[in-house]
Amino acid sequence: MISPQAFIHPNALVDSGVTIGAGTRVWAFAHLVTGVVVGRDCNICDHTFVEGDVRLGDRVTLKCGVFLWNGVTAENDVFIGPGVSFSNEVWPRSKLYAAQPARTRLQTGCSLGTGSTIMPVAVGEWAMVGAGSVVTRDVPDYALVVGQPAKFRSWICCCTRKMDFGEGRDFTCSCGRKFRKNRGKVALVSCDSATQP
Ligand SMILES: CC(C)(COP(=O)(O)OP(=O)(O)OC[C@H]1O[C@@H](n2cnc3c(N)ncnc32)[C@H](O)[C@@H]1OP(=O)(O)O)[C@@H](O)C(=O)NCCC(=O)NCCS
Ligand SMILES: [Zn+2]
Repeated sequence: MISPQAFIHPNALVDSGVTIGAGTRVWAFAHLVTGVVVGRDCNICDHTFVEGDVRLGDRVTLKCGVFLWNGVTAENDVFIGPGVSFSNEVWPRSKLYAAQPARTRLQTGCSLGTGSTIMPVAVGEWAMVGAGSVVTRDVPDYALVVGQPAKFRSWICCCTRKMDFGEGRDFTCSCGRKFRKNRGKVALVSCDSATQP
């Protein structure tokens, strides 16, 4: 079902059996294939292609020229930059199909920089991938990764400020969020509810 509160550009191609939530905008030359589920308040920009086994949460941004193949899931608040590439076949051969597409999970709030290439991995919550990077391994929550292959560069907050834990375990960002590092993982401890990224 397409919400009456969604905007579909007259030159977009939305197949039957697509679900689109209220407030979502689908721009010219986007093609959404039967089965796609798109949440609320998303922005699906020009020249995008979304296969049927793709799920997008709420407030997802899909910039121009991105093709989302079966097996890609983007949770709420995910940003996918222009020209980001995905793969759902790790060992591709023409006419030789895997039983199931390899899956890529983009977790809440993560951002993928322009032209990055994302192998079938999980990109953690509020993680960020630098422009042009090639991501071959799972990315931890709140990690900034860059390069080919992408490597850890720093921890970053939802607000995009870098986190400096020094020798300690705790970090309070100037935006009000508090984080704790434990066994190489960073987690949000508390958040000023008035703060938005
Ligand atoms: C990675 C990024 C967030 C900046 O991170 P940063 O740690 O502040 O990087 P700096 O600008 O301080 O640069 C530090 C080093 O990282 C390198 N670097 C920065 N961005 C890089 C990238 N995308 N890939 C590889 N190396 C990068 C710099 O060249 C520099 O290297 P040096 O120390 O050898 O001189 C930013 O460069 C980026 O790629 N942002 C994504 C932009 C984008 O795609 N936006 C969407 C468009 S709509
Ligand atoms: Zn912050």
